[in-house]
Amino acid sequence: MKRILTGIKPTGEITLGNYIGAIKQMVNMQDEYETYLFVADLHALTVPQDPKELHDRIKRFVAMYIACGMDPNKCTIYIQSENVYIPAMSYLLECTTSYGEASRMIQFKEKSKENKNFSVGLLTYPVLMAVDILYCDADYVPVGIDQKQHVELARDIAIRFNSRYGDTFNIPEPLVTSVGTKIKDLKDPSKKMSKTEDSPTGVISMYDTKEEITKKIMGATTDSDNTIKFDPDNKPGISNLLNIASSLSGRKIEEIEQEFARSGYGDFKKYVASVVVEKLGEIQDKYNKLINSDELNKILDEGKTKTEKLAKEKYELMKQRMGVIR
Ligand code: TYM
Repeated sequence: MKRILTGIKPTGEITLGNYIGAIKQMVNMQDEYETYLFVADLHALTVPQDPKELHDRIKRFVAMYIACGMDPNKCTIYIQSENVYIPAMSYLLECTTSYGEASRMIQFKEKSKENKNFSVGLLTYPVLMAVDILYCDADYVPVGIDQKQHVELARDIAIRFNSRYGDTFNIPEPLVTSVGTKIKDLKDPSKKMSKTEDSPTGVISMYDTKEEITKKIMGATTDSDNTIKFDPDNKPGISNLLNIASSLSGRKIEEIEQEFARSGYGDFKKYVASVVVEKLGEIQDKYNKLINSDELNKILDEGKTKTEKLAKEKYELMKQRMGVIR
């Protein structure tokens, strides 16, 4: 059985973008693949975090994964920092990654511009991500388009390590869905909907109330031409709403375009809001039942035991191949 794996970093609350770009794909694939889903809390540390908030968010992420449809009986769910071999392996891979490669990553370029005092961890971020993927020989990595470059770097690192030290890692592939791969900020559809973005009206969090969701969608930036057509270059706002409605309802974009061919933006937005409210409402009901249950700890203990065993084996193999053994 092929393996799929993905992670989300708890730098803010899970957004609709994370759900559509990553979690939903995992939910759909968990029956056919051996599935791993984790909270990338070490990645969150690459930018400043409030320890108390980070701590609270980690557990909320786990409950949200399950509420979104991840089945702990089919999928291994764990917290990245609980696997002690991950950072140790990351160091070994840092020594087989060039500074040039790491500093060419788009995310690094953007984030290092935002804060001139950026951490060393921000540079080595994609190497840690490569370990997340390679320690368990993942075959496919479902991600939004913004993370594709990092998965490609993981491939390059694995290929180089294998050719330098002998076969050690499986070569993974990114999986990016065709619909809704990059959900945009509702207020500024030129940028992605991001949990770290200071855009309270442009970002839908998975915890938003019905009223908040409706207000945000009704206030989404569109254009003045009043036709509902998928055209991301010229109509980024409307195309984003079409993407959201299509991925959450399972309907084709053309079908929605046709239904609203003679409608104004107001009616169309009401429809999109109703789709989001319904889907998030179902997820939130499940989340509220789970968040304080003991079940979460049991799931995380099992995830830790299983993934630590796999990572230990890979770590020992890497050390042996690299000659750092007694
Ligand atoms: P993160 O936390 O930024 O995002 C988690 C996942 O959600 C996708 N995503 C989006 N997809 C569509 N539209 C959006 N607006 C949007 N925003 C985010 C991202 O592409 C991603 O798939 N480095 C990763 C976490 C990570 C990881 C890994 C992922 C750490 N190790 C190993 C895969 C494999 C990150 O910061 O994702």
